[in-house]
Amino acid sequence: RLGRRAFLASGAAVLGGAAALGGRELLDADPEPAAPDSPGRATVAFHGEHQAGVVTPGQAFASFVALDLVDGVDREALVRLMRVWTDDIERLTRGAPGLTDTEPELAAVPAGLTVTVGYGPGVLTAAGREDLRPGWLTPLPAFGVDRLQEAWSGGDLLLQICADDEITVAHAVRVLVKEARTFATVRWVQRGFRNSPGTVTPGTTMRNLMGQVDGTSNPIPGTEDDRLIWIGPEGPAWLHGGTGMVVRRIAMNLDTWDELDRPAREQVIGRRLDNGAPLTGTHEHEEPDLEAMTELKLPVIESFAHIRRARSDDPDHRFLRRSYNYDESPPAGELSNSGLVFVSFQADIDAQFTPIQRRLDQLDLLNQWTTPIGSAVFAVPGGCRPGEYLGQRLLE
Ligand code: HEM
Repeated sequence: RLGRRAFLASGAAVLGGAAALGGRELLDADPEPAAPDSPGRATVAFHGEHQAGVVTPGQAFASFVALDLVDGVDREALVRLMRVWTDDIERLTRGAPGLTDTEPELAAVPAGLTVTVGYGPGVLTAAGREDLRPGWLTPLPAFGVDRLQEAWSGGDLLLQICADDEITVAHAVRVLVKEARTFATVRWVQRGFRNSPGTVTPGTTMRNLMGQVDGTSNPIPGTEDDRLIWIGPEGPAWLHGGTGMVVRRIAMNLDTWDELDRPAREQVIGRRLDNGAPLTGTHEHEEPDLEAMTELKLPVIESFAHIRRARSDDPDHRFLRRSYNYDESPPAGELSNSGLVFVSFQADIDAQFTPIQRRLDQLDLLNQWTTPIGSAVFAVPGGCRPGEYLGQRLLE
């Protein structure tokens, strides 16, 4: 408990306004706007050919909110929800309050906010548009490694909300979920994080909680790799400029991972822990040499290494990974509850993602320390122009 004297002293400091306190200036709650180049003032354009939050470099914090449509929601109701969401996402991402925002001050820090809306299979059913469902918009096939829990799987709608500030994320979640309450109920929420802005050089590949550099070998947006990410004319017209999204919650057993020494840990992935370079090289972005042999005629990158197994000879078996770490309260008697909210974007989940997940299911040493406990698949419609609403080409 705060002693009476300390309490009075702290009160005096507050009353003193901008008095210095322990080397820190006390500011009013509503200070001068942050400097124009501060991370809090950054915005990511909402309108465009594609939704933001797919090729946008990963912001520090993410909330993935899956919702289930309530009975009776039909195409017209979905149009109403999409109009409201579109309008408020456009506002919030430029740092303006939502239309009926009850906490408008919380909208003042956009912090690079993006909101990406995805449709589970249930949206097409509710909209009476089953005929337009791409073949891959269905739960993934079962894999031997899976220990899936209902609590982290499925969903009719997804909001992926990312920003460099947690208050911004929480506020956007609240505004958008509140607006949806007569249409949908929350099924699950997964929160994730990467490095905070200013803590590492921009462009640094993130690290996961096993300590590995994670995200190095990824398609490069804006190059010919775009065909791997975005749905083009060969896909359903309503998904042009959109993408397919896989969200898998993958638990890490950090206690048994601790039992491995560094060389063993590096063998599991096939890359170095210090800078993420392949075991056959010295720089992170060097191509691994999968043919290289040691003096004893053993492969330098083992046959069971994650990066060998996650590659295939087929150049179409690639996708954009944009995962986040999670670290939640452990259950009683356990030390940690950590893992990856694994997120991948690809034009065709069946043709690109599933073959690789099958390969990893058959053989990947990493499986000894990781367990998929949730799985969901969504179609992310293309972006919209001013005056349009998200998903319009499906729902109009
Ligand atoms: C590469 C970790 C799950 C697909 C990597 C790398 C690490 C890693 C450290 C090397 C650096 C990089 O290129 O990003 C993990 C962890 C996982 C996990 C900790 C689970 C907790 C998965 C899953 C898939 C996958 C479920 C897909 C089904 C890939 C691919 C690569 C990769 C495609 C790049 C391979 C290459 O081209 O070199 N992963 N991964 N990973 N991972 Fe995973």
